[in-house]
Amino acid sequence: MRVSIFGTGYVGLVTGTCLAEVGNHVLCIDIDQAKVDGLRRGVIPIYEPGLEPMVKANTAAGRLSFSTEAAEALGHADIVFIAVGTPPDEDGSADLRHVLAVARSIGEHMQRPTLVVDKSTVPVGTADRVRAVIAGELQRRGVDIDFDVVSNPEFLKEGDAVKDCMRPDRIIIGAESEDAVERMRGLYAPFNRNHERLVVMDTRSAELTKYAANAMLATKISFMNEIANIAERVGADVEMVRQGIGSDPRIGYSFIYPGAGYGGSCFPKDVQALERTARQIGYEARLLSAVEAVNDDQKRHLFALISRHFDGQLRGRCIALWGLAFKPNTDDMREAPSRTLLEQLWAAGARVQVFDPEAMDEARRLFGERADLRYCESSGQALEGADALVVVTEWKAFWSPDFDALAAALGGKVVFDGRNIYDPDQVESAGLAYYGIGRGRSVARGG
Ligand code: UDX
Repeated sequence: MRVSIFGTGYVGLVTGTCLAEVGNHVLCIDIDQAKVDGLRRGVIPIYEPGLEPMVKANTAAGRLSFSTEAAEALGHADIVFIAVGTPPDEDGSADLRHVLAVARSIGEHMQRPTLVVDKSTVPVGTADRVRAVIAGELQRRGVDIDFDVVSNPEFLKEGDAVKDCMRPDRIIIGAESEDAVERMRGLYAPFNRNHERLVVMDTRSAELTKYAANAMLATKISFMNEIANIAERVGADVEMVRQGIGSDPRIGYSFIYPGAGYGGSCFPKDVQALERTARQIGYEARLLSAVEAVNDDQKRHLFALISRHFDGQLRGRCIALWGLAFKPNTDDMREAPSRTLLEQLWAAGARVQVFDPEAMDEARRLFGERADLRYCESSGQALEGADALVVVTEWKAFWSPDFDALAAALGGKVVFDGRNIYDPDQVESAGLAYYGIGRGRSVARGG
């Protein structure tokens, strides 16, 4: 099949590449000329394991191409994806400017019957708005071309995006016509093997499914962070509690890891957007507001532990910080807990030495050069002259440090483990104080 995709961000680029990988001819469109030029040469603007070789192989095979021309997209294909960003606007609602601009271009350039697939995360009712914008453009041009709009939300995780796309757990199709469902079924057939993964529904339910999935996952995390905060105060260890409750299959082990708070491009934005959608229709989503509030506090929790340990005296102290990305296997620092911590440490007068296996360039772009920040080339370099170590992102490379070497390097002899990746006994037996998240023992021991 011939497919065009508007937007070469995470979602558009990964989807386009995977659709090309299974034999389709895919044209990806972006308004950013430099990005398109780069992609044509195989330069991938994001860090995503497995993506680069796939982009290169499919480009070389002539199945994947890139352009800035909307007209080309509509000439190339009769299935056209919208996969552009929906950033939050000032009040947290999803900003549909890019989605509706693409809808307008689609209407402007449509030449033959076209199926428009909305993959961007958009508030309920957007498929209807996209349909109206396209119809308006066609009417303005005085042409009558058949088109349909379906909602097909994505569930890609950064770092696992290629795998998630090639082997999806579910493929949500929100459609208003049988014909549209059949065409989507055909397009997704290579990804829908062994058992039925297509869940077909109306467009509004599909749009809400995406928000509900992310809000549910964010709720699990905030719930666990709340339990961690209770554990800390009552002298319990949330890691034991986590295993205790995860063994109940109704609860499950996944997504109940307490930590430094959730970040990234989806959870914070989507929880907020769903809450705003609810408010606009006169419903107060109390649970969602709480999920967000707990997460905002959690992002400040590491600083509270650090500040308490040093009796509020952080001026002139040097803190080693391991992990800047919002989670491992990505260079993405959007809404990352590390950013909240850095701002708090700087405001308290501390200097920070940072290391992340992938996000150093991104950090440089965000913070530039400043006297109270040292960009380090290795986790070891970040420890040089530092008083304390704070682990903010659980990269595998940080899981088994030499604790004796850590103890020798750290002036303040203390480790703050923002992801509970260490065994407190092991850290303490090296002569270091240990703080985790929701591990009340460190508080009880005054450690
Ligand atoms: C998420 C959804 O998982 C994905 O389905 C959706 O399409 C986009 O949003 P992503 O943002 O890439 O994907 O990251 P994810 O792996 O889900 O992690 C989100 C955040 O939650 C990270 O900051 C992570 O550290 C945090 N997290 C996750 C926890 O704090 N505890 C957990 O148990 C799980």
